[in-house]
Amino acid sequence: MSIKVLGISTSPRIKGNSDLLLRRALAGAESAGAGTEYIRLPDYQVGPCIECNACYATGLCKVQDDYQHLLKKILDADRIIFATPIFFMTVCAQAKMLIDRCQSLWAHKYVLKKELITPGHDRRAMVIAVGGSRSKKQFDCIRLTMKSCFDSLQVYYAANLFVNKIDSLGEIEKHPSALKEAYRLGSLLAATNSPPPQKSIDIELT
Ligand SMILES: Cc1cc2nc3c(=O)[nH]c(=O)nc-3n(C[C@H](O)[C@H](O)[C@H](O)COP(=O)(O)O)c2cc1C
Repeated sequence: MSIKVLGISTSPRIKGNSDLLLRRALAGAESAGAGTEYIRLPDYQVGPCIECNACYATGLCKVQDDYQHLLKKILDADRIIFATPIFFMTVCAQAKMLIDRCQSLWAHKYVLKKELITPGHDRRAMVIAVGGSRSKKQFDCIRLTMKSCFDSLQVYYAANLFVNKIDSLGEIEKHPSALKEAYRLGSLLAATNSPPPQKSIDIELT
């Protein structure tokens, strides 16, 4: 059976730059034989964590919205590709709401000390992020936030593809290498015949 790759596009812009990169990465994953699913997060109703801490007792989030539906897909996936624009040096609000709702998984793992997924399930993730400017620290927050989120999701953080200085809608299509790189990394992420790399891939393009 082919592996399942879930692509989560969080930009509020339809066909935004991070979204176009994600679509190329999914095409790359398909070229490696994976089955892919694409989700546009702004099409779903996912509210913020309300910090009720009910999940500390149950491991479950009690807020009933589309998070419950998305969580099943997230836990079922062998690979996750998470795409976000840079908003004020970090992920966009839509992405952050989904990430914060993963507190229930954090509670599941660290408070209740329970297994979330089948032991040995090889789960890996990649992050795609695009920023309009160029700053040395542009992607620092994303690295930390996504590491913490993937720890709770019990997914190995395998790769980053970060692109600077891409601002207007669709501008990524003029970048000399970003789309090709997304395709290549998508296909690499989906390859099942290699063990997860010891060191994560971290690519930052200008
Ligand atoms: C609310 C907001 C905040 C932004 N903050 C930053 C920022 O901190 N750094 C940056 O480089 N670009 C910033 N940008 C620009 C976007 O990252 C840029 O336009 C990017 O290409 C958007 O990606 P998308 O098309 O996938 O949504 C911001 C844009 C918006 C709308």
